[in-house]
Amino acid sequence: MPDNKLNKTLLVASSHPLGAITAEEAYLWEKLDLTRLPKHVAVIMDGNGRWARKRHLPRIAGHRSGTQSARTTIETCARLKIEALTLYAFSVENWRRPKTEIDFLMQLLREYLRKEMPLLQKNRIRMRFLGRMDELPAGVQKDAREAMEKTAGNQGMVLCVALNYGGRAEIVDAVNAILAERNGHGTSGRITEEQLSRHLYTEGLPDPDLLIRTSGEMRVSNFLLWQIAYAEIFVTETLWPDFSRARLLEALVEFQTRERRYGGIDESDASSEKPARSVGH
Ligand code: FPP
Repeated sequence: MPDNKLNKTLLVASSHPLGAITAEEAYLWEKLDLTRLPKHVAVIMDGNGRWARKRHLPRIAGHRSGTQSARTTIETCARLKIEALTLYAFSVENWRRPKTEIDFLMQLLREYLRKEMPLLQKNRIRMRFLGRMDELPAGVQKDAREAMEKTAGNQGMVLCVALNYGGRAEIVDAVNAILAERNGHGTSGRITEEQLSRHLYTEGLPDPDLLIRTSGEMRVSNFLLWQIAYAEIFVTETLWPDFSRARLLEALVEFQTRERRYGGIDESDASSEKPARSVGH
């Protein structure tokens, strides 16, 4: 890591893809291979409550501060031309929280969509929502629909907000969608991995190759269970409201040090012999 003082030095470089950057960011940027970035980054934004508690603030202050980290992460990933970013904003399990906190989170999301629309448009971001949207308050559904419609023509990064999302629920929904389709067509036969993938909320997107979780917990918490089968997992102790652009760059640098084998062997150990079997169908 560079000298601590470097964090505070702002380098004004208008030509830099990230705009004005700190010396720490410049240091991490140098280490990054832009040709080997993940295609899809998924984030479990955890630690808002703990961030607030440490400051003797109500939990909702942590969520509000967390939107700033979301903004930074979204803009940075878009500028890096990452294909897709998925943020875990509200899980099916989060309904267990006090009603006032849930109401606040829903309001915060609506406010975010309204306020950040210019930034989303400027970065040509296309919005998607992953989850059981029909169970959400009508106002949230309406704003989410409008955000998708307004950004539908954008050709940049796809930003997925996982809302009322559960990984198991998603797989159950996919299987039921396949069964409904089959009943309509009178077809049967075995379900394939490809078919199941096509019926997930993430249909058409590459699987996440990097999963970031903030605040140190070593769990996947029912997030994208099918899609993260081969994702590299990066867990940081940093609480979500403190997750800065430097911490994101750090995660990307770490991702590039990982050796991805997908159950095979290191390429340098491989002979010209063909794999014994192809898998996944
Ligand atoms: C987890 O922290 C965080 C959430 C359940 C909500 C995340 C939502 C936001 C950051 C709001 C904005 C989202 C977008 C997409 C703009 P926690 O409350 O579980 O923290 P704790 O584990 O420390 O209690």
